[in-house]
Amino acid sequence: MSATAQSGKDRVVIFDTTLRDGEQSPGATMTHEEKLEVAELLDTMGVDIIEAGFPIASDGDFQAVHEIATRTKNAVVCGLSRAGQKDIDRAGEAIKPARRGRIHTFISTSPVHMKWKLQMEPAQVYEMVISSVSRARNHTDDVEWSCEDGTRTEHEFLFRCVEAAINAGATTINVPDTVGYTVPEEYFALIRMIRERVPNSDKAVFSVHCHDDLGMAVSNSLAGVRAGARQIECTINGIGERAGNAALEEVVMAMKVRNDVLPFWTGIDAGMLTRASKLVSAVTSFPVQYNKAVVGRNAFAHESGIHQDGMLKHTQTYEIMTPESVGVKQTSLVMGKHSGRHAFTHKLEELGYQLAGNQLEDAFVRFKALADRKKHVYDEDIEALVDEEIATAQDRIKLVSLSVIAGTRGPQRATMKLDMDGGIAIEECEGNGPVDATFNCIKALVPHEANLELYQVHAVTEGTDAQAEVSVRLSENGKSVTAKGADPDTLVASAKAYLGALNKLLIKRQKGKPEPLIAAERRVHSTDRV
Ligand code: KIV
Ligand code: ZN
Repeated sequence: MSATAQSGKDRVVIFDTTLRDGEQSPGATMTHEEKLEVAELLDTMGVDIIEAGFPIASDGDFQAVHEIATRTKNAVVCGLSRAGQKDIDRAGEAIKPARRGRIHTFISTSPVHMKWKLQMEPAQVYEMVISSVSRARNHTDDVEWSCEDGTRTEHEFLFRCVEAAINAGATTINVPDTVGYTVPEEYFALIRMIRERVPNSDKAVFSVHCHDDLGMAVSNSLAGVRAGARQIECTINGIGERAGNAALEEVVMAMKVRNDVLPFWTGIDAGMLTRASKLVSAVTSFPVQYNKAVVGRNAFAHESGIHQDGMLKHTQTYEIMTPESVGVKQTSLVMGKHSGRHAFTHKLEELGYQLAGNQLEDAFVRFKALADRKKHVYDEDIEALVDEEIATAQDRIKLVSLSVIAGTRGPQRATMKLDMDGGIAIEECEGNGPVDATFNCIKALVPHEANLELYQVHAVTEGTDAQAEVSVRLSENGKSVTAKGADPDTLVASAKAYLGALNKLLIKRQKGKPEPLIAAERRVHSTDRV
């Protein structure tokens, strides 16, 4: 696009809520360090506003928002808050260190939410709109107000609330499609109507926040922008409550590729989209759907003969954007067992990782071990290895060794050695198949009541020596966590994924008081062989 086409009025602000709405996805919990890493990447790729969490929700959320506010160099850092005074003050405290900080306060305005969720009369809600925005303005000049369930709110009441929020000092007005109910034409009309009917609407930026329950989050967001909204709230890979939010990579690329009909622009470096997708998938352990627009592994794959023939003649026959434009690199044979530390560090930088100290050393040792076992080491192998390194850095339970006897003559047996908070424990179990035997060892060593909700295996690359990447989701007391493990041995990958999920559950349970992992009588010496 030419520089002259990029006028300020067509600039769409990208508000990323991966760390807040995204982290609310069942099972998508991130550790503190993972949140910092995601925030740093979002800042580097040009996200304008990072919604870093919901500070009143937990001390962990508060700490994450506070530290992201301290570290972020370019983006505005935002904390979410309900309409109560305590919520707002907590959010204000969390964003205090930010170079530019925002409070995003919300209250439900739809009849169904006011009656059943809030149990408040519209007049009380209206008063809270004013008091919450005014309170937030005591902390920062940058205040966003959201009418939760905005698309199911009565119009006249919505207009009055928006007007009151702007009068009280809100600088951004967000109109969420909280339950993913609207359709593009309707949302376009709603945003346009609010802008036309609210007398002071020119004093605020309008924002869209769409959920994907009917698969229309991206289309609805773009319709809102065409109607005059200039902020899109979105998440990497579209993660978020229930079916998720509008996917950042999709809204950005839609405006870039179809700039002829969507003449808007953002500050996002699209070349970093694939890296961001992979990082968020790694830290949440949510696999990216193969055919996911823009960042799915098949997004640039051409299988049929006719398509391949067309592509060889001219890539534009079947590609509307190039893989490079979103940061996809050709699968390349990278290195083997003779590659040194320098080449490995260089490759990591090329793939967008910045590891140092122990993390770099550990990743290098694991790379060498992999190169010893696997003939060809690809970029994808290195990514799986490093993502696992990052995701497991804080783990209290680690797999030391595993051996399994499998085959047609059961029962299958597994023997496992774990390092738990520095203590070593061993167990041997049978099972209905090798995976069951492996998981039974974990259950014996770390007794728990969590349910296994998902067990999924896929190959990182091609070939019979490819690494297996396993995803495991566990749930306990209504909370679920997901983790991934990668290894050329599927059973080792399975054990790592299960242990990864258990480690995440421990963090969830912990709340500052670490519980002992193993009873004293289970401890055995590290010299015991497995
Ligand atoms: O979906 C929603 O309504 C939200 C609000 C808190 C903005 O996430
Ligand atoms: Zn939402």
